[in-house]
Amino acid sequence: MDLSTEFPRLFHQIYGHWCDFIVRAPGRVNLIGEHTDYNGFPVLPMSLEQAIYAAVGVRTDKTVQVRNVDPLYSELTFTLECRIPPGNPGDWGNYVKAGIQGVIDWERNPKPLEALHGFDCLITGTIPPGSGLSSSSALVVASALAFLEANEIPYERASLAEMLASAEHYVGTQGGGMDQAICLLGEAGQALKIDFFPLRASPVPLPEGWSIVICNSLIRAEKTRAAMRLYNRRPIECRIAVAMLEKQRFGSYGNCARLSQLIGPECGPENLLEQAMSLFHEEGYSWTEIAEFLKEDPDEVEGRLGRMRDGSVFGETEDGFQLRKRVRHVLTEATRVERSFRALSSGDVLQFAELMNDSHRSCRDDYEISCPELDVLVQVARLSGAKGARLTGAGFGGCTVNLVRDDKIDAFRAMIWEEYLQRYLMLKRPELGESVDSGDMLSISKPARGSEIMKAR
Ligand code: GLA
Repeated sequence: MDLSTEFPRLFHQIYGHWCDFIVRAPGRVNLIGEHTDYNGFPVLPMSLEQAIYAAVGVRTDKTVQVRNVDPLYSELTFTLECRIPPGNPGDWGNYVKAGIQGVIDWERNPKPLEALHGFDCLITGTIPPGSGLSSSSALVVASALAFLEANEIPYERASLAEMLASAEHYVGTQGGGMDQAICLLGEAGQALKIDFFPLRASPVPLPEGWSIVICNSLIRAEKTRAAMRLYNRRPIECRIAVAMLEKQRFGSYGNCARLSQLIGPECGPENLLEQAMSLFHEEGYSWTEIAEFLKEDPDEVEGRLGRMRDGSVFGETEDGFQLRKRVRHVLTEATRVERSFRALSSGDVLQFAELMNDSHRSCRDDYEISCPELDVLVQVARLSGAKGARLTGAGFGGCTVNLVRDDKIDAFRAMIWEEYLQRYLMLKRPELGESVDSGDMLSISKPARGSEIMKAR
């Protein structure tokens, strides 16, 4: 879709008036640092050339109308109010509402609800949905930016990113702050190491002569109710681990919300890892065992540590909460991010590639967020010339990120097509591979600029 002519024309056709501006919000690929963000540890993503675009026409009333160029997404109309009711879990409109609700609740928004007005909006985009490249957070950011711009509310990018990280919990996923931060702060030509609480971004160059190649497993990493449960289980396991580590060290718990808060001058990451490895056993924990350790009533503990944003409690898991493995992943992954930042800063490509490979192992074995298809794709990639290959994003499907020398890309592309798609996926899940072309399977992007507001015409 041509953004300067066709897109505004389509907007005009739908709404009967011209749009005032277009928001661009890029997707992202995370190079390393998976599920570290909500634990207070850094991540190292880059923003992509693929993005979400929202054409926006300001209204004078309190209505928000949203249409998507892709007819698969239903039309959405709602009114601005204190508490905008969410649609069904997994409904795409919830991401739009999340961004807007976030701005309404934001303490830095100087305008009361009575002074705010809505907008008409048409969405299109080039980020494949459900591929773990953060199309959903890009939509949250795009909606918030549309709303801020429509109401002429000034903002500072880092604090907006921090606010939108918790605003996105509106959709039901208890994610961290990586996706919104890279979407707003991304820099052309650079990856970013992002630290949290408070948010800080440090640019780092990518190695000359190498490309970041994204391969799609074609297993959709949807944010449905079941997938949300898989994701949300991890932050809850981390929360339980924090409470138990805190209790063991200080005799009580409740002061620390994140693993990173247990690190200080007297306790470095290695000491914390040691403490965790001697405290947590391999077998999963039940709420009863957790409560016994914390010397509290099980219902109370479950209510406190297992409470979700919608008020429900998480309940038991079949294999028990895997505290030992989860903490081991988070703490070793945090170290890998710092080491990757140093390796990239000094141009040590092979060191960075090795850290990517270690990260995949840790995501697969300790955080258990991989799936057979992602593991095969990573294996094939390594045999096809990638020096580093790992799953990227939340996991459970979606994409892998690969470090490939520029002169090896053509051979790499051909091997992925042949060995992953034809010889593996087409035999296992033929329905997924049927109408796929090589552009769906593999993409290469340079780090792109963060979100922006563009003139409409
Ligand atoms: C999702 C979340 C992020 C982050 C990643 C995993 O993309 O939105 O905050 O936790 O998963 O690294």
